Amino acid sequence: MDLGLAGRVALVLAASKGLGRATAAALAAEGADLAIGARNAQTLEATAATIRAESGRRVLAVPVDVTDAAASAAFVDAAVQAYGRIDVLVNNAGGPPFGSFDDFDDAAWQRAFELNLLSTVRMTRLALPHLARDGGGRVINIVSLSVKSVLPRSILSTAMRAGVVGMAKLLADELGPHGITVNNVAPGLILTDRLRETGAGDRVGDAPLRRAGQPEEFGAVVAFLASARASYVTGATIPIDGGLIRAIGCFSGLATRAKLRFSTARKLRFSGTPSRARAYARPPAVPSTVFKAGSGSRAYAKRSFSRGRSSRRRRTAAPTVDPCGRLDGPRYRRAAR
Ligand SMILES: NC(=O)c1ccc[n+]([C@@H]2O[C@H](COP(=O)([O-])OP(=O)(O)OC[C@H]3O[C@@H](n4cnc5c(N)ncnc54)[C@H](OP(=O)(O)O)[C@@H]3O)[C@@H](O)[C@H]2O)c1
Repeated sequence: MDLGLAGRVALVLAASKGLGRATAAALAAEGADLAIGARNAQTLEATAATIRAESGRRVLAVPVDVTDAAASAAFVDAAVQAYGRIDVLVNNAGGPPFGSFDDFDDAAWQRAFELNLLSTVRMTRLALPHLARDGGGRVINIVSLSVKSVLPRSILSTAMRAGVVGMAKLLADELGPHGITVNNVAPGLILTDRLRETGAGDRVGDAPLRRAGQPEEFGAVVAFLASARASYVTGATIPIDGGLIRAIGCFSGLATRAKLRFSTARKLRFSGTPSRARAYARPPAVPSTVFKAGSGSRAYAKRSFSRGRSSRRRRTAAPTVDPCGRLDGPRYRRAAR
């Protein structure tokens, strides 16, 4: 399949190694010219030389720390000067440290904010005036699997990526009329230096494919999203995780509906209209596949129903289910008995 990337110009950040490098290589292999950035000039130039040799495309290597506003502006300027246009922007950066809430002070939160959220906002703002508006404009943010299902000790990353996903969703709305798509890719366990260093790869056995992903497998998905073939995909967050995330959807709307129904039922019961209260208290119809996949909606609905009946349960059944249906923790287990 021709992805229609030949002659397009792609900017890829944090591209000297790992996911950024694999993304850059995949885009160049499809015929895109590149501007790539990372902090270490030597590693970056070596990567650019390899991609040039492998793809025959033009690869501009511009050292940049994405937390530095002036350097980020210089990076975009250099790309525009070299190519006169931008079609694809791939936002990426190194990941913040792993740890628990107690491990991080204001300074650590500020660093994570600048590295993983502000850098994306700023780079997008800088590139936007130059981004193609012919239907080929693409913004792709590399986030993390934790935006779909939280990972232990990834509090900095999870909090910042959630901000990126929220921003991307609204940006997709704003840029859609200009023919620009905005999407996120959420890597699970992809075999890069970061994965090796953090030891997060220990979880590969949990994935249906029973292995970590190769950076090239990640790059291929990003190249597709960047391509003309993905022209009707926007505002999406695509997991690239070997199936690690088990949830099949987010039913927060349903959970909210259930909550509303039961609070209305309670009010009606106390106002002396028990038959209408019973009608409201009926759990909403949800396809059985939803329950099999472990959604919390039915459990939530059931517990809300019980809460209406028993004050003892009301005390123990505080929800510990997230809107995407993860059921866990001692409070949930106690409530479920
Ligand atoms: N690999 C996975 O399975 C996985 C899973 C979930 C999320 N992620 C996220 O995906 C992103 C990339 O991960 P990776 O596995 O590819 O990491 P990696 O192999 O360690 O590569 C990180 C790249 O980012 C560059 N970089 C780091 N800080 C930078 C900065 N301030 N400005 C510009 N470039 C910077 C590095 O080059 P320099 O050091 O020279 O700047 C390098 O090129 C990270 O945010 C990570 O948290 C990865």
